Amino acid sequence: AQRKQIDKVLALFQLTREHLVSVRDKMRAEFEYGLQKKTHPLATVKMLPTYVCGMPDGTEKGKYLALDLGGTNFRVLLVKIRRGRRLVRMYNKIFAIPLEIMQGTGEELFDHIVQCIADFLDYMGLKGAQLPLGFTFSFPCRQTSIDKGTLIEWTKGFKATDCEGEDVVDMLREAIKRRNEFDLDIVAVVNDTVGTMMTCGHEDPNCEIGLIAGTGSNMCYMEEMRNIELVEENEGKMCINTEWGGFGDNGCLDDIWTQYDKEVDEGSLNPGKQRYEKMTSGMYLGEIVRQILIDLTKQGLLFRGQISERLQTRGIFETKFLSQIESDRLALLQVRGILQQLGLDSTCEDSIVVKEVCGAVSRRAAQLCGSGLAAVVEKRREDQELEHLRITVGVDGTLYKLHPHFSRILQETVKELAPQCDVTFMLSEDGSGKGAALITAVAKRLQQPQK
Ligand code: BG6
Ligand code: GLC
Repeated sequence: AQRKQIDKVLALFQLTREHLVSVRDKMRAEFEYGLQKKTHPLATVKMLPTYVCGMPDGTEKGKYLALDLGGTNFRVLLVKIRRGRRLVRMYNKIFAIPLEIMQGTGEELFDHIVQCIADFLDYMGLKGAQLPLGFTFSFPCRQTSIDKGTLIEWTKGFKATDCEGEDVVDMLREAIKRRNEFDLDIVAVVNDTVGTMMTCGHEDPNCEIGLIAGTGSNMCYMEEMRNIELVEENEGKMCINTEWGGFGDNGCLDDIWTQYDKEVDEGSLNPGKQRYEKMTSGMYLGEIVRQILIDLTKQGLLFRGQISERLQTRGIFETKFLSQIESDRLALLQVRGILQQLGLDSTCEDSIVVKEVCGAVSRRAAQLCGSGLAAVVEKRREDQELEHLRITVGVDGTLYKLHPHFSRILQETVKELAPQCDVTFMLSEDGSGKGAALITAVAKRLQQPQK
């Protein structure tokens, strides 16, 4: 009887092929709404123009600074590009962003960022250098050019005040002015998906999609200019930051949304928003698992029916724990060890159930993400009127990189739902900072008067 109850819960996470096809088709419809000039009343996938119109061509060169804010790590980088592909050298330093700064005031946040830049310049012996800077800022921004980006709303773990509706480049410039110690030429603001696509595009010109499966979930791709109503131009292509994390915020995923997803949403910093992201990314998967474990314990099916204080603590299951628990090389005894580390006293049966729960949640995440990706490759194929499309996706993110099954299930799902597309997945080795520097280099090249 107990087994039946557990299976009933797990079944909520098992999606049929029909479910996945329907997710793919709804995502496709959202792409089209988002590309229209007038915001469609139901549009939740923002489809933001990025003003990135071309890939690096190998003629870029020079020294660039890059900032990378919004993922697991905040980094400041110095990127040296020499003519020709693959000739890139990077130096970088990771800085912490304390929670009280992530959720304090905007001024404090940007002052902190500038403090870190100052430390880095010092450390590199570059004080006083005036370098062009590319800013990877991994949040939704409305752009009107490559160096302007108004933050629409915070996502993931950030909530600094007085930033939403403001231009993040202006905020960075003002913080640099306040410090009055150095001058930087901020040339580009770039989403992490776009930086990732560029990093991979530098090596593989066929890379026209960027995917992040990390703390958050998002995708960008090269779109035909004529399909982007917000931009006047009709020739060539432009990269669109889809911000697909907001998919489902209009209720279109309600048929697969579980009570556990609802609880995670309600306990988050942005309730009602980023529903697809909350079903598919690292910051939330552990929370879904925790909600299920609480429920199973309440039903007396786990942990001898005792809900410990630990289990009631938000955020205990980080992506790395899920990845460890699901690793096939791990014996159950080791799973128990991990749970023990988390302060959860488990029996052998408990650890089996926990592993099954983790598997169900991450499997659904990979399948949902794969369905979204199938939508975009199919769109690209149809837009180019091709029987067959070959395309490369540049990927980054801790979930994709660390989890033992996520990437495989994601790829299988894309194959199944977009059989006429031949999709190559290329892991970004250098994060999106390198991509931001490449974009900065291209923008600099275009700024120069043509001789
Ligand atoms: C890296 C970037 O490429 O991937 C980060 O440099 C980005 O800025 C990250 O946000 C996504 O991964 P995670 O797992 O750190 O959120
Ligand atoms: C969130 C952000 C998005 C970013 C993604 C991955 O969804 O809104 O801009 O690309 O996380 O980091």
